Amino acid sequence: MENSNVFGVILAGGKGTRMGNVEKPKQFMEIGHKPIIVHTIEKFVMNPTFCKVLVLSPKQWIKHTQDLVRKYIPNSEQVVVIEGGSTRNETIMNAIAYIEECGSLNEETIIVTHDSVRPFVTHRILEENIKYAKEYGACDTVIPATDTIVESKNNQFITDIPDRSKMYQGQTPQSFKAMQLRKLYQALSDEEKEILTDACKILVIKGEKVHLVDGEVSNIKITYPYDLRVAEALLGGME
Ligand code: CTP
Repeated sequence: MENSNVFGVILAGGKGTRMGNVEKPKQFMEIGHKPIIVHTIEKFVMNPTFCKVLVLSPKQWIKHTQDLVRKYIPNSEQVVVIEGGSTRNETIMNAIAYIEECGSLNEETIIVTHDSVRPFVTHRILEENIKYAKEYGACDTVIPATDTIVESKNNQFITDIPDRSKMYQGQTPQSFKAMQLRKLYQALSDEEKEILTDACKILVIKGEKVHLVDGEVSNIKITYPYDLRVAEALLGGME
């Protein structure tokens, strides 16, 4: 089947330390009376192209995540909850390992990786990610930078001000041919793995092409308590 090779990969393995909530990681906090992660999963299950939607959560939150899926997602057989990793990229590697264990990993397997805390991803963004990942092997969702980006290598004085028209802000999804991503990641040194927080950079430093996908200003990442208020306002505007 043509579509059986595209997996949604929702990254929910983080602790959300910048949110300052000690009770539970931010992806389980509620906006519009539903956990953030549920809003995100809903966007993925609505797209029929995904053969499975993998949700990767911290070990001690797996059961809770499964309960949420059962409670909120109708026909949830398509959603599989598995354990995340110690870093964001390790979480992605766990997803690829799962696909391999299922016997579904081959050169054409596509993973559409997405932050669980970006619940406003759109159908159009998901469609374009699938299209460009198939066509080019990798793509990244971005929006043009609105603020001027100022670089300071010593955190004290400006070292550069790059031309804003060439600057973008990275969002997610980031989508890849899974085998190629894993191969490049495994070729990195432990130090490189430590500092590489962005999955697309794995390809960029190895000289591989990553196509751009137009994101949306509304495709925000919920990071700080302030973002919860923005998210509530965005939901209000959608009703
Ligand atoms: N993530 C993950 N596995 C990790 C770390 C992060 O799946 N080991 C996920 C988070 O759950 C989140 C997304 O990656 O959905 C984006 O990361 P970020 O916003 O930095 O989340 P946290 O690491 O949870 O937040 P913080 O940096 O404030 O601790």
